Amino acid sequence: MIPVAKPLITEEEVEEVVEVLRSGFIAQGPQVADFEEKFASYVGTKHAVAVSSGTTALHLSLLLADVKSGDEVITTPFSFVATGNCALYVGARPVFVDIDPKTYNLNPEKIEDVITERTKVILPVHLYGQPAEMDHINEIAQEHELLVIEDAAQAHGSMYNNKMAGSLGDLACFSFYPTKNMTSSEGGMITTDNSEMADLARMLRSHGEKERYEHVVLGYNFRMTDIAAAIGRVQLKRLPGFNQKRIENAQYLSEHIKNIKDISAPYVSKKVLHVFHQYTIRIADGRRDEIMEKLNQNGVGTGIYYHKPIYNQKLYQDLGYQNQCLEAERASSDVLSLPVHPLLRIEELEKIVFTLADASEQIFQ
Ligand SMILES: Cc1ncc(COP(=O)(O)O)c(C=O)c1O
Repeated sequence: MIPVAKPLITEEEVEEVVEVLRSGFIAQGPQVADFEEKFASYVGTKHAVAVSSGTTALHLSLLLADVKSGDEVITTPFSFVATGNCALYVGARPVFVDIDPKTYNLNPEKIEDVITERTKVILPVHLYGQPAEMDHINEIAQEHELLVIEDAAQAHGSMYNNKMAGSLGDLACFSFYPTKNMTSSEGGMITTDNSEMADLARMLRSHGEKERYEHVVLGYNFRMTDIAAAIGRVQLKRLPGFNQKRIENAQYLSEHIKNIKDISAPYVSKKVLHVFHQYTIRIADGRRDEIMEKLNQNGVGTGIYYHKPIYNQKLYQDLGYQNQCLEAERASSDVLSLPVHPLLRIEELEKIVFTLADASEQIFQ
């Protein structure tokens, strides 16, 4: 089976981790500090604050934005559940706005309809590695005095108008989960130009500690370990190469998929550098599951991101959500992600295209 995702760990990561283990300094320490410095410099922000996951990065970011009980956070329903849950953690309400059916990202045209006096934050996701329509989103945020937090969990190294994802809003959150474009095992990062917020983030990730055992605010244990940071530092060096390979693989797939009946290759906006965390096709006429089955039977792994909008998860249904974001719902039943990771060989790319063409021929006749 060609897996849909595969982390790429080499001897260098192994050696760095072993060195950290031998150093005896395995909790948050010098590796984390160095990883933060290099990540901030890569993204082009003044600060980067490492945390234990993308989810804790989102949770802390909402605290930094002073989002509280009763406040509202405008976001997309077509994302991983953490994007909605982070608002719930701070007692706020995620307000879901439909997506653009071409990019699958938050549709800015629909944001102003749902802004109220309780709205505090707009939280766009750069889904599949393609940045959201940030100019328009930032314009709306400015006009209504809202903060913008980028969920860049899937978008390391992607760009919008030649600016790096992670430097496009007030705060941004990355995930280093193993399937992402770069990994640290588990891990996350907050990037920002705001020095006050960065200082507060450093306190909040470590029990609100200002000096050793002096706790000034209610904080958490959301720290990254030096073991994770050692992996992250090596992966960050290799990220541009990984992304280049993903982009080339996506180009190959799109060139060949454009001739397959009833299957659409991903749309890429002219304003962005899409880094293809996922290569996601769209299948017509509700035949997605049949195509997926044929691919899987023939050794091509696939993924569905996401099989329902967040508001249709049981947790949200129990909270009384009754949204109807029609484009998100359509996408949930049409999308299918194919392998695009940097380890794919040309024979495997050929096999993906061939198997997909064959499946389409059988199913659409
Ligand atoms: C869009 C999005 N947001 C948030 C997260 C949460 O990141 P993590 O799994 O590192 O907590 C993920 C990844 O899983 C994600 O894809």
